[in-house]
Amino acid sequence: MSEQLKYGNVSSKRAMELEEEYGAHNYHPLPVVLAKGEGVFMWDPEGNRYYDFLSAYSAVNQGHCHPKIIKALCDQAQTLTLTSRAFYNNKLGEFEKFITEYFGFDMVLPMNSGAEGVETAMKLARKWAYNVKGVENGNAVIIFAENNFHGRTIAIVSASSDPDCYEGFGPFAPGIVRVPYNDAEALKKYLVEHGKNVAAFIVEPIQGEAGVFVPDEGYLKSCFDICKEHNVLFIADEIQTGIARTGKLLACDYDNVRPDVLILGKAVSGGVLPVSVVLADKEVMMQIKPGQHGSTFGGFPLACTVAQAALEVVKEEKLAERAFELGEFFRDELRKIDHPMIKLVRGRGLLNAIVVEPKDGVEAWDVCLMLKEKGLLCKPTHRHIIRLAPPLVITKEQLAECIQIIRDVFATL
Ligand SMILES: Cc1ncc(COP(=O)(O)O)c(C=O)c1O
Repeated sequence: MSEQLKYGNVSSKRAMELEEEYGAHNYHPLPVVLAKGEGVFMWDPEGNRYYDFLSAYSAVNQGHCHPKIIKALCDQAQTLTLTSRAFYNNKLGEFEKFITEYFGFDMVLPMNSGAEGVETAMKLARKWAYNVKGVENGNAVIIFAENNFHGRTIAIVSASSDPDCYEGFGPFAPGIVRVPYNDAEALKKYLVEHGKNVAAFIVEPIQGEAGVFVPDEGYLKSCFDICKEHNVLFIADEIQTGIARTGKLLACDYDNVRPDVLILGKAVSGGVLPVSVVLADKEVMMQIKPGQHGSTFGGFPLACTVAQAALEVVKEEKLAERAFELGEFFRDELRKIDHPMIKLVRGRGLLNAIVVEPKDGVEAWDVCLMLKEKGLLCKPTHRHIIRLAPPLVITKEQLAECIQIIRDVFATL
């Protein structure tokens, strides 16, 4: 007999079968189907409720279906959705003024996915290198860090050190080099030897996909200063770390660094639409001329309206302050769990990870399956790291309940 469905008309079993049969197998999801989201919770079609501890890789910082953001979406959707940039629209300029003042930059270039934001920053950096720095045409180099994750395009995977990301996708884009992460001296060495042709250093302030790897205090500032010495743009990819996730508006704020170019995505729209933005001052941004870069959807009226509402929520609900305080509490409590499989708890704000020591064949994936059974959804990154990143609207009581779930799961291992 088929089980009664609470949300939608497709059961979990059927939804998984359909994806398996008709969708490309480019992901390996946890076996749970989600049919509804509200705040920190998600529900499967059968009505089982889960705490979301992934937040769509930090896109849903404001919580699922935030009423203010959804209202902005619905109102604008009934008025005007897409114009393309062939014409002006009455939302884009207003949003551009809002977001540049919000983050303190002269100008913004809106795109859609995070990867497009990173591509945009790479193109801007190359133009700047040729037009302003005086690098000979075709010779510009962009430096990335080892173990980075910046997206999935050919240019971006050309910078990856993860075989899953790049293997079988060559030939790769030239003009890309890597230096070890959290090693300002390595960056310095490269720039001392080859700085003349370097356009930019692109870095994640915390490496999210690598396993929430938090660099040493002062690393970003040292890299920024070294870049300045060699007339190189310091570009921060804050697609995952930005917008209050780490307990400050930007993770670069911990080192008091204002990047030359800032890339944001994910939570810019509260997880409602794909919106990314690249922020920079005029010297960099004005290097792109009409017809040289763009996207049909980039800066569309619906996205502008939603993103403005989503960024207002971050300030109105003091999400950075919340993430900071709750993050301290969360890590303190997790560190009290005394279990041989837990090697390390690390993170900032509400971007955290437990590094586990696989034991008797039990890996991070298995722990995530057990957490799911107890109503908490998270995803491993690599075989030994469990990333824990709830929506920032979570309350202390809810967080305490989740810590108990995590404690209970480890107690059974
Ligand atoms: C730091 C970072 N940059 C870029 C991206 C790519 O964003 P998108 O998946 O929207 O293309 C991600 C996605 O996880 C990310 O974490």
